[in-house]
Amino acid sequence: MKRIFAAMFCVCLSAGAMAQSALAFDASAGEKSKMTVYDGSEVNYTAYERLFYVTNVEDSTYQFLNVYVPDGATQQTPIFLRTYVGGYMASPAAQPQAGDATGRALKEGYVVVIPGTRGRNSSIVADKQYAKTHKVVTKGQTVYTGRAPKAILDLKAAIRYLRHFDKEMLGDAERIITDGTSAGGAMSALMGATGNNPEYAALLKAMGAADERDDVFASVCYCPIIDLEHADMAYEWLYGQTDSRQSLDDTHRQMSKELAALFPAYVNSLNLMKPDGTPLTADNYLDYLKSEIIRAAQTAKNAGAYIPDSIGFSFSSEAGGMFTAPINGGIPPQMQGDKRPMMQAEQPPMGMRPMHGGQLQVGEYITGLDMQKYLNYVVSTQALKGVPAFDSQIEGINNASGENEEFGDETGSNANFTDYTARRNNAALTDAIRQNVRLMNPMSFIGDGTTSVAPHWYIRHGARDRDTSFPIPVNFATKLQNAGKDVNFLLAWNRPHSGDYALDELFQWIAEITQSKF
Ligand code: DHB
Repeated sequence: MKRIFAAMFCVCLSAGAMAQSALAFDASAGEKSKMTVYDGSEVNYTAYERLFYVTNVEDSTYQFLNVYVPDGATQQTPIFLRTYVGGYMASPAAQPQAGDATGRALKEGYVVVIPGTRGRNSSIVADKQYAKTHKVVTKGQTVYTGRAPKAILDLKAAIRYLRHFDKEMLGDAERIITDGTSAGGAMSALMGATGNNPEYAALLKAMGAADERDDVFASVCYCPIIDLEHADMAYEWLYGQTDSRQSLDDTHRQMSKELAALFPAYVNSLNLMKPDGTPLTADNYLDYLKSEIIRAAQTAKNAGAYIPDSIGFSFSSEAGGMFTAPINGGIPPQMQGDKRPMMQAEQPPMGMRPMHGGQLQVGEYITGLDMQKYLNYVVSTQALKGVPAFDSQIEGINNASGENEEFGDETGSNANFTDYTARRNNAALTDAIRQNVRLMNPMSFIGDGTTSVAPHWYIRHGARDRDTSFPIPVNFATKLQNAGKDVNFLLAWNRPHSGDYALDELFQWIAEITQSKF
């Protein structure tokens, strides 16, 4: 409790701009602490908190990181860097949580780093000094400190800080694994896909970031909300024909059609290859998504999950053999017709019976999927976003989205970031906004021969997550694969918009990549 008050006190005192003469880290200044994690065991660690990662601190509420070093860590221990960015909003440096990936990482013996970052809602009130150094700002004015691309700049500065003090601090800055969910998944993707890119260099220098490399070893991205300038077209291309889009008014229905029509040219321009080496194009894209959903559902079915046929799946009609175990809650074929009372008790328990009015299926293999039915099911679990889903701000028609705020400026404005919506407002994107959009998109630099893209990737997007459409993470994972990266990708079965799940599997993957030579 004492510690929480102390932290709040510091934040209140120091919110605003602040200059430091140099970056600092004192290995002897850690505080011993402990945490009870998911399995009831205790993890002892040393905490280093409020480590400012730039010298020209613009927003002292956010621009620092916390480091947690578990007992037993060495200079070789990989670093698990978790960003808690959500909704493109500011995110304070936090302490590890017993129930999420940070607590698990500590338990596994990894050094945990949690940086704070500015975001679309962070602001300071300009003091005299700030107004003097920022010509367009007057004293007393509210300044938004975290509009694009500030959050990724902060995270890159944090990575550079870890490299700068790599010798002084336990943990290996050459083996940083980033992790985040949603907008945080986008941040993790950006950390992984923009390493050392020169287009960020001048901005980082102006912030007083360490003059170090900022590439990372691996990135874990749960439901990354990325490729924002193409997310609207992908969304309407995928969901435009669903039942819920049929009740749109004429204006929105027309926009949905126009946006959907832009997707094929975009996806073809990516020149993607499927894992089997054949081209992934607009013509075969829906079939490819279908195969990815089936792959996810089959994996879950193999582990015992019930996959209902009522949401579009079809199955092989026969179970594997005489002694096949019950599948999908069905009664094994060798026992069908057996009327002994015992058999009644072998019906699946209530909670495991089909929930969608589906037939009991006994087939081992999922052999097909009616995508229209499946997409209608996804949309039935959560209403779709409006049209356009991301760059929504249209004068007299739609309000601004969080993303419109993200691309606004330090005065707190909102801005369009796609050509389509800008045109609807009879405007065009400025070069400055175009560049910010580019810097915020992990698709921008993969395979350019200049950028140091992380060699290892773990990307998950829930198979019923409608916050962005399936093509967005699929394109991203495929582009990385095509660039020769090690990519573990899944449209995780039955997961909604969420993150830090299947942690046993995630940490198994982390153990494998950190034990392998690269
Ligand atoms: C998040 C979710 C969204 O739907 C979105 O458009 C941006 C961010 C989030 O949860 O971080």
